[in-house]
Amino acid sequence: MDYHWIKIFEKEENDDDYLLKNTFINLELKGEKICITKTDLGIFAFGDKCPHNGASLSKGFCSKKNEIICPLHRYSFDLKSGKATSGGAFAIKTYPIKINEEGLFIGIKAKWWES
Ligand code: FES
Repeated sequence: MDYHWIKIFEKEENDDDYLLKNTFINLELKGEKICITKTDLGIFAFGDKCPHNGASLSKGFCSKKNEIICPLHRYSFDLKSGKATSGGAFAIKTYPIKINEEGLFIGIKAKWWES
């Protein structure tokens, strides 16, 4: 699978300047609304749309179990896998994060015609 790797921060050390734990940054990359958050387990990127009824997940909050909790009906989703941890068989879209000496990048899957 090919990805477009989009730089978000210049260096890993800089993410504390922009992203505090359990807060959110909203971005629109390649037409996709993406939310970034940081927990004790790392930095995670996911689609900012709840698969249940479309609420903005960035208006929710992170749990101590590394989940994002939807603000509307309180369904929860694992930030790493995207799988629902309550509320049924839904899953959120997740995006890979890559950190190296050049910075922190989010991977957006290339469309079939771009690869
Ligand atoms: S809209 Fe998110 S749980 Fe219903």
